[in-house]
Amino acid sequence: MCGIIGYIGPKSVAQVLIEGLKKLEYRGYDSAGIAVDDENEIKVRRVKGKISDLEESLAKSPLQGSYGLGHTRWATHGRPSEENAHPHRDCTGSLVVVHNGIIENYLPLKKKLKDEGHSFQTETDTEVIAHLIEKYFQGSLEEATQRAVQELEGAYAIAAFSTQDAPKIVATKVGPPAVVGLGENEYFVSSDINPLLSHTQRMVFLEDGEIAVIEPEGVRFSDFKGSSLEKRVDYLTWTPLMIEKEGFKHFMLKEIFEQPQVVRDTITGRVSLDSGEMCLDEIGISAEFLKKIKKTVIIACGTSYHAGLVGKYFIETLADIPVDIEYASEYRYRDFILDRETLVLVISQSGETADVLAALRAVKKRGAVPLAICNVKNSSIAREAEGLLYTHAGPEIGVAATKTFSDQMAALALIALHLAQLKEKVDSETNFSLIEDLHRIPYRMEKILSQAESIEKLARRFISFSHFLYLGRWVNYPIALEGALKLKEISYIHAEGYPGGEMKHGPIALIDEKIPTMVIIPRDRVYEKMMSNISEIKTRLGYILAIAFEDDKEIQDKVDKVISIPSTNPLFTPFLTTIPVQLFAYYIAAMRGADVDQPRNLAKSVTVE
Ligand code: G6P
Repeated sequence: MCGIIGYIGPKSVAQVLIEGLKKLEYRGYDSAGIAVDDENEIKVRRVKGKISDLEESLAKSPLQGSYGLGHTRWATHGRPSEENAHPHRDCTGSLVVVHNGIIENYLPLKKKLKDEGHSFQTETDTEVIAHLIEKYFQGSLEEATQRAVQELEGAYAIAAFSTQDAPKIVATKVGPPAVVGLGENEYFVSSDINPLLSHTQRMVFLEDGEIAVIEPEGVRFSDFKGSSLEKRVDYLTWTPLMIEKEGFKHFMLKEIFEQPQVVRDTITGRVSLDSGEMCLDEIGISAEFLKKIKKTVIIACGTSYHAGLVGKYFIETLADIPVDIEYASEYRYRDFILDRETLVLVISQSGETADVLAALRAVKKRGAVPLAICNVKNSSIAREAEGLLYTHAGPEIGVAATKTFSDQMAALALIALHLAQLKEKVDSETNFSLIEDLHRIPYRMEKILSQAESIEKLARRFISFSHFLYLGRWVNYPIALEGALKLKEISYIHAEGYPGGEMKHGPIALIDEKIPTMVIIPRDRVYEKMMSNISEIKTRLGYILAIAFEDDKEIQDKVDKVISIPSTNPLFTPFLTTIPVQLFAYYIAAMRGADVDQPRNLAKSVTVE
């Protein structure tokens, strides 16, 4: 949902900003712009389109400056256009602002500012910020910003500079993330750490209501009242190489192939193959509390919700605890009931999804002690949750989540086993066999990835279909949902995911030779039921692709094509069935020429409601 970057230092400012924006582009990509201070004159360049269009424009006519700001946009207020692209200026043209988030009261503010004589150039909510800072400016940009933010309602990460109080960048946030990078005689502000990694690993994460004043000599921090703050410096271990494609055509494909390793990284050290014990003290939620819980509520959005749905099966089956799974965007507005014996799990790759953050805050208000599963270190959700389990997937750049999905399932399997052990729901033999199965998952994933070429060949046949149906059941029902989501978000083919048992209640009416069905059918407790679904589809001339165990001979002549996966404990099959649905969607989208890593209208982290 928009990316912001700011730089002050000796390097070529425009180049640092462009390189930074490229690494933030997954956050939004309908328009982009930069502003630089060139000897006390602000030069702005904006384009409708991608960062590459902005880069082209700058190559034709470069901008020089000593510091500046950049922005990549995902439109909320005002269509994508050059005028609505950030940075936005005040009436004098001596101040520029970039913004990530939504100013909810921008209409009354705009009216008031217009009545006071300000003239507006854009349809955006952001422009009111520039005019508000202008209104309160009396020589100090930070003081004017402090006063301006008092009038803003909504969510924002803002960075601004003014030629009348220079050289200086002022940044602040309420809601969306902002991180300050501390380099050698150079300083940065950014929406996330990705653009900073090639310059520094020393970062300071801003909390809501904090202001950073970035100058050539260093960075100062204060609160909205102007009191100065001492902030902790974090050292990030992600490396710049982690955000390169490394020979893969798309980040998504690279990230699909990283799955065995990231699952390994997430499991390693947290469960002992020797003793069969879990080592999860790091989560920061006491074993006494976990032993007593009677219920679990899982809250998430998008693909993380699907991982949560898999987690429901893990926890119910292994730990014998009832689990509710909820969309954060619904839960936060519900009159939900929580008691002290409920474990709340919030799942978010980015740790910044606005609805998940709001739901987390709502459950905390009701006295719950939420445990978060996050991938991004020091993200808002990671910081605000009471308990925390990080997935070790590294940065995920493709907008469609893949490796973080598998990693979230791995984290949920660990939590389920932890609960099962604490509640003494598994005997030692079963415990060892589950742990062994879990450790073997990455090897089995590698085996499926080695068949990628045959899945690519298969996908070729389906590139001109307009509709797809995905069926799964029990623990693979969430994978049917995830498979359909992957296909629609990156290839724009309409796809629906359904639990097999529900097919007779509607979707069966759609079946004919024009709608292929992907049936996920490992040998598990619902295998025979899924077989019945298969014959119902075949009777209606539907084409069927099945994902099934490699030793399943029975399925071969019942369906049109089989994608084989190695046999494993049925409960853990989602780790394996996920890979073919991801690859299938990826290859179809890539062959259709879609922008796989940056699908239209989507953004990686949805930091607005
Ligand atoms: C967006 C992304 C999805 C992601 C969802 C939840 O919609 O495009 O890939 O699953 O947000 O994001 P989170 O960071 O909270 O897991």
